[in-house]
Amino acid sequence: MSALRVAVDAAAITHNVCTLAERTEAQIMAVVKADGYGHGLIEAGAAARAGGATWLGVAQPHEALALRAAGDTGRILAWLYGPDLPAAQLMEAQIDLSVSSPEVLGEIVAVSRDGAPSPRVHICVDTGLGREGVTLADLPGVLTLAKAAEREGLVRVVGMWSHLAWADAPGHPTIDRQAQAFRQALVMAQESALALEVRHLANSACTLTRPDLHFDMVRPGIAVYGLPPVEDPDGQNFGLRPAMSVTSHVVLVKDVSAGQGVSYGHEYVTAFPTTLALVSAGYADGVFRAAGSVADVSIRGRRYRIAGRVCMDQFVVDLGPATEVCVGDEVTLIGPGGPSARDWAEAVGTIDYEIVCRFGRLRAKESA
Ligand SMILES: Cc1ncc(COP(=O)(O)O)c(C=O)c1O
Repeated sequence: MSALRVAVDAAAITHNVCTLAERTEAQIMAVVKADGYGHGLIEAGAAARAGGATWLGVAQPHEALALRAAGDTGRILAWLYGPDLPAAQLMEAQIDLSVSSPEVLGEIVAVSRDGAPSPRVHICVDTGLGREGVTLADLPGVLTLAKAAEREGLVRVVGMWSHLAWADAPGHPTIDRQAQAFRQALVMAQESALALEVRHLANSACTLTRPDLHFDMVRPGIAVYGLPPVEDPDGQNFGLRPAMSVTSHVVLVKDVSAGQGVSYGHEYVTAFPTTLALVSAGYADGVFRAAGSVADVSIRGRRYRIAGRVCMDQFVVDLGPATEVCVGDEVTLIGPGGPSARDWAEAVGTIDYEIVCRFGRLRAKESA
C-alpha cells in the first residue's frame, strides 16, 4: 500500500458538470486530457458524461483512442498531434480532429483519400494565445484547402475554435481582443461557405465569467474537477465540489522538549515542550519538497503546518503540547475539511492544475 492515498469522487465530477451546465445554453465539452487532470481519463470521462457533457476533449490522440476502447461512443475532440499522428486510427474511431496548420490538414486529407472514413475537423485559430492554431494571416489558405477537401468528400469541417491566454484574469484586454479575432475568423469561415456546427472558445474561467463568449460549446477543464480558476464573488466556489482528496497516516507520535530541531537542517525548532507526529509520505510519493514549513495538513479536523523539511518518505507536524492525535490517524493533505489544492498551490508557488496532475500520477500508479 502506498503511503499516500489519492481518492477521486466521481459524483463530484458529475455534479460539477451539471453545475456548469446550469450556467450555459451551450454544449459542454469536458476536458479530460492529462489523465483527466490526474483524476483518471476513463473515470472522469464517464462521470462528466453522466453530468451532461456531450463532448470530451483531449490533447493527445492516444487519450481519445483510450476513451473509445473503454466504450465511450460520444463526440470526442483531440487537438495536439506530433509527427506520428495516427490519423487513420482516429478516423476509424470517429474522433473529431483539430487542424492547426495546412500540413496537418494535408495529412488528414491524404489519409482520407486513401480510404479512411472522412473525418470531422475543427479548425483551430490562434487569436492571440501564441500557441496552437492557424494565424488569421494563414487562415484564408487553410479555409480554401478545407473547402476543396470538403467538396471532394474527404473531410467535413464542423468546428472552429480558439483558446484564451488570460481567461483567468477577468477584464484583461486580451480577452475581448481574442474574441474579436475569433469572430473575424468565423466570418471568414462563413464567407468560405463552411457550415460550422460548433464554435468554441471558453475554458473554465471564461465559462464562469463570460457568458457572452460561450458560442455553441464551452470547454471547461479545471472546473470539472471542482477547482474554480477565478474567485466566486459570492464566495461559494460557484457551487463546484473538489473531486480529489489526498490522505496519509500518522505513523509515530512522540513528546519532545523545547528547542528540538525537527527534520533535516533543523529549519523548524520547537518553541515549547510539545508532541510531534510523523507522517509517512514524502517527496518520493509526490509531496512537494517545497511544502516544508509552508503547507498545511489536517488531522482530526485541525490544521497543522508541516514542521521543517519534507523528506523522501516522511514529514513531521508539531501537534502542540495537548493532543489526542495517535498513530493510525488519517492525515488530510487535500480534501474536505482540510487544505484545498489551491492552498497547496499557493504554499508551494504553483497552480492547482499542477497539484492535481502530480498527485494524480500516484493514483494512476496505484490503480495500474
Ligand atoms: C485547448 C484547451 N481547451 C480547454 C482547456 C481547459 O482549460 P481549463 O482547465 O482552464 O478550463 C484546456 C486546458 O488547458 C485546453 O488546452
